[in-house]
Amino acid sequence: MSAQNTRVLPLGPEAIAEAARLIGAGFAVAVPTETVYGLAADAGNGEAVAGIYEAKGRPGFNPLIVHVETMEQARTIARFNSEAEALAVRHWPGPLTLVLPLADGAPIASLVTAGLPTIALRMPAHPAMRDLLRAVGRPLAAPSANASGRISPTRAAHVLTSLDGRIPLILDGGATEHGLESTILALTGGDVRLLRPGPIDLGLTLSAGAIEAPGQLASHYAPTKPIRLNAPSGRGDEWLIGFGSVAGDSTLSASGNLMEAAANLFERLHEADAADEPRIAIARIPDSGLGAAINDRLRRAAAPRTG
Ligand code: TXA
Ligand code: MG
Repeated sequence: MSAQNTRVLPLGPEAIAEAARLIGAGFAVAVPTETVYGLAADAGNGEAVAGIYEAKGRPGFNPLIVHVETMEQARTIARFNSEAEALAVRHWPGPLTLVLPLADGAPIASLVTAGLPTIALRMPAHPAMRDLLRAVGRPLAAPSANASGRISPTRAAHVLTSLDGRIPLILDGGATEHGLESTILALTGGDVRLLRPGPIDLGLTLSAGAIEAPGQLASHYAPTKPIRLNAPSGRGDEWLIGFGSVAGDSTLSASGNLMEAAANLFERLHEADAADEPRIAIARIPDSGLGAAINDRLRRAAAPRTG
């Protein structure tokens, strides 16, 4: 990725308009929320979401939280049962994230959910994130705005320290109120499970299946078929996912572009899983930049399943 000049603008109508313009153009922008600073991009644009991973230098793909402005918007993205409705009424806008079944036709890039049929949603309370959501008019995917392995930023200066030169803009709204990421609840089974403790304490204890670290999610999406990596060509019983000069039955990126490949990854895997061929082969992906995250996910998908 080419180094860019990172601007820091104090919150205000002009800064919000500039942030919305950049997000519309496919960039990721740092914005304060009531919990921590988030690195926000258009949740419907797979390459923009790939840009979040590239900027953070994350070694893998973890599903991201999607931020919405209204309940109406939330309902186009996820299915709310009565319990989810009640939690949203009670705690939104605020530092609570709900993991819910993804709605049919949700306008969300598959890289956001890392291919999962569920989605983490929250309606933030901070006026900066709310103004930005209104200005963009689309849901925003936003993990914490820190480089991978660094702690979550609670001031614009923290974001600058870890992402200077990697993103075009930081909106400076001062210190965040909570300084701690949102509470995450999963409502995808019949019950309510606490996946991450946070500012909203509902008296639940951490669920056994909770995510401890990126990539540790028990329910990570993986195809059901055997996968062969670094394949220069496909065999008769394989669906070949190509990259660059390896054309394949489908391709992650014909031009060998890693941003495009990351954006397409989960769709191509789902497609391969649904194909007639009983096996999947995947062309070699270079291990540089986003390629490392893609390869991390592919190695996990190819590893023998346990349980
Ligand atoms: O306070 C916050 O939530 C901040 C601000 C910026 O909103 N955002 C944040 O996002 O902490 P992030 O991406 O760093 O954390 C997302 C967490 C991860 O632990 C991820 O595994 C979990 O949410 N998550 C996302 N989608 C999920 C899903 N479908 N099922 C289970 N866990 C999910
Ligand atoms: Mg984080």
